[in-house]
Amino acid sequence: MINPFTPSEIASLPEDFFGRDKEIQLLARSINQGSVCIEGSFGIGKSSFMSRTLLHMDGFASDENNIFIMVVGHADIKTVDDAALLVLDKLVSIDSAEKKLRIGFSTIISYESSEAYSYFNEGRHLSALSKIVADKAFTAQISGVNKFIIAIDECEKCAPAIAMLMRTLCTEIQLQGIKNLRFVLAGVSPFYQTMANTDRGVTRFIYKCLHLEPLDQDTSQALLDEKFSQLTSSIYDGGGALNIHPDVIDRIAAMSGGHPHLLQLLGSHVVEHEYEDPDGCIDLRDLVGSLREICYQSRGRDYDLLIHTMKNESYFSDYCSFIALAGGRFPSRIDREQALENIDGGSLDWLMSRNIISLQDDKTYSVVDEFLRIRVVLDLQDSKVDEMEVEIIENGEYSLPGDSYEMLYENTGRDE
Ligand SMILES: Nc1ncnc2c1ncn2[C@@H]1O[C@H](COP(=O)(O)OP(=O)(O)OP(=O)(O)O)[C@@H](O)[C@H]1O
Ligand SMILES: [Mg+2]
Repeated sequence: MINPFTPSEIASLPEDFFGRDKEIQLLARSINQGSVCIEGSFGIGKSSFMSRTLLHMDGFASDENNIFIMVVGHADIKTVDDAALLVLDKLVSIDSAEKKLRIGFSTIISYESSEAYSYFNEGRHLSALSKIVADKAFTAQISGVNKFIIAIDECEKCAPAIAMLMRTLCTEIQLQGIKNLRFVLAGVSPFYQTMANTDRGVTRFIYKCLHLEPLDQDTSQALLDEKFSQLTSSIYDGGGALNIHPDVIDRIAAMSGGHPHLLQLLGSHVVEHEYEDPDGCIDLRDLVGSLREICYQSRGRDYDLLIHTMKNESYFSDYCSFIALAGGRFPSRIDREQALENIDGGSLDWLMSRNIISLQDDKTYSVVDEFLRIRVVLDLQDSKVDEMEVEIIENGEYSLPGDSYEMLYENTGRDE
């Protein structure tokens, strides 16, 4: 039995990637106007969306004609030269004997530069990179494509350095009349704000900041249907048979709230459970055990960090009030007016800016990650975690005793 769910892999190929058609088109259009940021919470699908869109931009199953390089940011990138080196690493090879940088990537670009080499050798990486992208040889070779795209993932880890890189590089090459360099930056919110705080002017180069939301209900359903049908056919091909109880699909869709990582993670757990204890049917029993595993292990560190940030910034009590208003149903839906009556508008804005809650429509809020909500509620339950897990899975909702709601409002919610 192969497990078709991929909670640890980026989904970039068309057969692995579900939904977000409009966003892909929007990004493809926006890139003509300027650089683009992709923001969202942990695991919402930023890297998958970025690489799927870049494939599209590269002409994969589309008539787009751009070229790109993709790099990943990290915490050691402190200066603009560090950031430039990250890009150079993908763009050049060093010929020390000839004292040249050999620029070559994709099939279309290939030339050498001695001047860039001397900058590079002096550690002036930004100057080397500017030299390369403004070089006549480079511009001549990319003139056949629409845009040359520098894509950087995980920008939240080094937002100030990326802001400086984008600002300087874009200014320098625009001054020379080169118009087809673009950045596509992805990271956990609010990295765009961090970049803007470093340098207000940088926002001028960013035409669009796209906030990724969870997948809609139809897309979640399509993803689950497709994965479970791959599973049943693989078992059928091996001469076996497997039934999928329809409640399982509904429950996974509702509990994940359309969050792609949670869809993949829950799906994967269910298949694993059937694999360990096969009974020819995937039913709700196979889901039990997965909530705690996700809340405290698979995503435990992300949640620790988010809870810590909310407490540090004194918004945890507001988050608790918010999930208390949601009651026990999945996915969470909170009337906007009711939220504004109970919670300070500034706090709701902060929770939105951190992608912890989102507006479902003009009148309704929801949480972005249903498992963060489950985690906070489970933290309250101490000894009754098992019972609660069974309750959520069997009934599709939880009921807390009255005093737990009071605790959510008051005790657990006390900010540190
Ligand atoms: N559109 C999609 N269709 C199917 N699966 C998806 C989609 N988007 C994301 N996923 C799945 O969700 C999980 C998280 O995706 P991804 O790593 O792209 O998120 P992320 O926002 O970059 O996460 P992080 O915050 O950890 O960087 C992966 O398992 C991926 O396979
Ligand atoms: Mg990512």
